[in-house]
Amino acid sequence: MKIISVVGARPNFMKIAPFIKEIAKYNKAYNNKIHHILVHTGQHYDDRMSKAFFQALGIPEADINLEIGSGTHAEQVGHTMIRFEEVIRNEKPDWVVVVGDVNATLACSVTAKKEWIKCCHIEAGLRSNDITMPEEVNRLVTDRLSDLLLTPDRLSIENLKKEGVKSNRIEFVGNIMIDTLEANRSVATSLNISEIIKRNYKSGCEEFSGEFALMTLHRPSNVDSREIFEPIIRFILDVVANDFHVIWPIHPRALKLLEEFSLLSIVNKHPRITLLNPLNYHDMLRLNMDAKIMLTDSGGLQEECTILGTPCLTLRWNTERPITLREHGGASVLVGNNIERISKEYLNTINLEQKSQRPELWDGNTADRCLDAIINFKSE
Ligand code: UD1
Repeated sequence: MKIISVVGARPNFMKIAPFIKEIAKYNKAYNNKIHHILVHTGQHYDDRMSKAFFQALGIPEADINLEIGSGTHAEQVGHTMIRFEEVIRNEKPDWVVVVGDVNATLACSVTAKKEWIKCCHIEAGLRSNDITMPEEVNRLVTDRLSDLLLTPDRLSIENLKKEGVKSNRIEFVGNIMIDTLEANRSVATSLNISEIIKRNYKSGCEEFSGEFALMTLHRPSNVDSREIFEPIIRFILDVVANDFHVIWPIHPRALKLLEEFSLLSIVNKHPRITLLNPLNYHDMLRLNMDAKIMLTDSGGLQEECTILGTPCLTLRWNTERPITLREHGGASVLVGNNIERISKEYLNTINLEQKSQRPELWDGNTADRCLDAIINFKSE
């Protein structure tokens, strides 16, 4: 059996790592029965956004890099489709496996189906019901087309069924991100926080001690307009940084806009905010373990906070991962980007204890179930 799996952007890397390890395990037991090819579309290309994750998670170098780089959505998707079509025509795989909801996921699932190749989507069925999110478009198209839909939770199965997907295409496998978290927990635990800060320091306060809040922001809906981004920054400076030292590993998109809105120098002058470069997996996991509170718009961090128990404010109006919300037993609460709401929930959250939760099948063995589902797939 020949499988091509695809990654494009940072959140894909922790999802593909356990799947590749599972294939290696299978090949050892079954005499290299699976021919696996890893394709990187090259959407994320900075060492810190890409190579650092490959190294930290033991992902072998991609067999093929499409080198598409930055661009508008149409440019990214279009370039990926053109180059991936050539890969599929040369390699003629039995399966294309895509993960998550980034532009690579959409582009490669569409291309696979146009070339009559079976497609499997890992992390299927998530829905924010917000079609203005580029990731929601990617999720809808990929799930509509894929032959095999592997879901992280039961709510996702309901979403797919509501859309009319037949049960034979759906399998509940659990959350593959948690395989990576569990496999890397002990390495992360052994790391020293001050050294992480020194190693990744970008700007702002260099001295660090005491309790800290951890923050990440990258969604266009939060950072692309000054009317939204600036009040968030003011809240962080005036309120959060009063209570905690704020550690902010900054995404390239957020950095660019912070500079453009002339906010970077204000942030850098604050005595209790430290900007870090984008962190590798272990460093981020270690900081998350000790953070008193997480402020984020990342879906993956919401999930990790649930397992680690870090109280989390999600700066979004909706989530495709409701299972991570406190009302479903998770660690996070949606606060959007309205300062009144953020402020209210922040006060409710800062005194919460760390309380780890483990949704069904978030047990570290999801990759095994994914590969099983592919090998045993029957189309009808
Ligand atoms: C992408 C994903 C998003 C994911 C996020 C995590 C899509 C639609 N979005 O958004 O789901 O949560 O990654 O990081 O696929 N840039 C660099 N270096 C890089 C990569 C990007 O400087 O290695 C710059 C680009 O030039 C661009 C900006 O960062 O200006 C945004 O990158 P892009 O890949 O378009 O989307 P993300 O916002 O990262």
